[in-house]
Amino acid sequence: MKNILVVGGAGYIGSHMVWLLGQRGLQVVVLDNLSAGHRDAVLHGELVEGDMADRALLDRVLSARPFDAVMHFASSIQVGESVADPAKYYVNNVARTLALLEAMRAHGVGQFVFSSTAAVFGEPLRIPIGADHPCAPINPYGRTKWMVEQVLADYAAAYGLRSVSLRYFNAAGAHPLGLLGERHEPETHLIPLVLQAAAGRRAHVSVFGRDYDTPDGTCIRDYVHVMDLAEAHWLALQHLAAGGAGGAFNLGNGDGYSVQQVIDAAQRVTGREIAVQEGPRRPGDPARLVADAARARSVLGWQPRRADLQTIVADAWRWECRGGTPDAMLSVAARA
Ligand SMILES: NC(=O)c1ccc[n+]([C@@H]2O[C@H](COP(=O)([O-])OP(=O)(O)OC[C@H]3O[C@@H](n4cnc5c(N)ncnc54)[C@H](O)[C@@H]3O)[C@@H](O)[C@H]2O)c1
Repeated sequence: MKNILVVGGAGYIGSHMVWLLGQRGLQVVVLDNLSAGHRDAVLHGELVEGDMADRALLDRVLSARPFDAVMHFASSIQVGESVADPAKYYVNNVARTLALLEAMRAHGVGQFVFSSTAAVFGEPLRIPIGADHPCAPINPYGRTKWMVEQVLADYAAAYGLRSVSLRYFNAAGAHPLGLLGERHEPETHLIPLVLQAAAGRRAHVSVFGRDYDTPDGTCIRDYVHVMDLAEAHWLALQHLAAGGAGGAFNLGNGDGYSVQQVIDAAQRVTGREIAVQEGPRRPGDPARLVADAARARSVLGWQPRRADLQTIVADAWRWECRGGTPDAMLSVAARA
């Protein structure tokens, strides 16, 4: 395995993957239209700016060298926006993924790693959620990911395209040296929102519902470190290269933390008070989402190394203290 095309490699999770591939000595080309990604997040390989549905561009990229695999991180990612503007999601996440798969077929690239999500499960029937839990997504974002998973199963049967779909629970944390981190605009993820409130970049963090059936009444989620996600993708590549059967794997730690526990951890890590604004429950927010990642552990040999909440929050805080960009050397501590 030598050449990897990383689609969406200028985004949050993809950029950590690209860094890891560089550490492991692989040749990387990143294809990203920079609709949400950042040029300065690509720390290894070559960045080609463009859309995954641009067939002429894909033909150029895929004929320039023999790619062993494509890793596909590119998508629109906000659940709420997917409800308000489903067309954007079906076009970007489904139609453009089909265009990418067509280009791969034309160029004989037969291995694919796909960023799926816990949103494919919808309202869980049981906790923890195993890889064989039924998929019944409850919003367009989750449906787009589930559709692509089904396309991949059909393409495996008909065309021999071997793929691994990795269903992340809540991706969180940042590169442990502060080289990379989360930079979504708008940010919708809890940990960066809490830390931005701690850093004074937001007035407060909103807590949506304190009346859930959980010990402190707030929602419980499974936070998985972005470096552990990258390692799982690496193992998925090895698995495919060794001829392993494809399929879907859940990626989470199996430990759920409540919104309040995240806020408490952030107060401990930062040493700051974090202002909270209470809000009502949001529709479609299950009380608990916790992964059973047994299949990823046994088949891929995945072993999360930065699983505890304190580590996840501390790594994310290091990034936040750099201003949330690689080169903004602004010290939050100095401004406090
Ligand atoms: N962040 C999470 O907690 C989480 C959880 C589950 C699944 N995922 C999935 O993981 C993947 C990566 O998520 P992220 O948080 O890094 O998102 P991100 O928005 O930071 O990264 C996505 C990247 O894809 C690029 N992109 C989008 N559409 C494109 C297109 N048509 N052509 C080329 N590039 C395009 C964007 O510019 C961006 O750089 C997504 O597929 C997302 O659905 C993320």
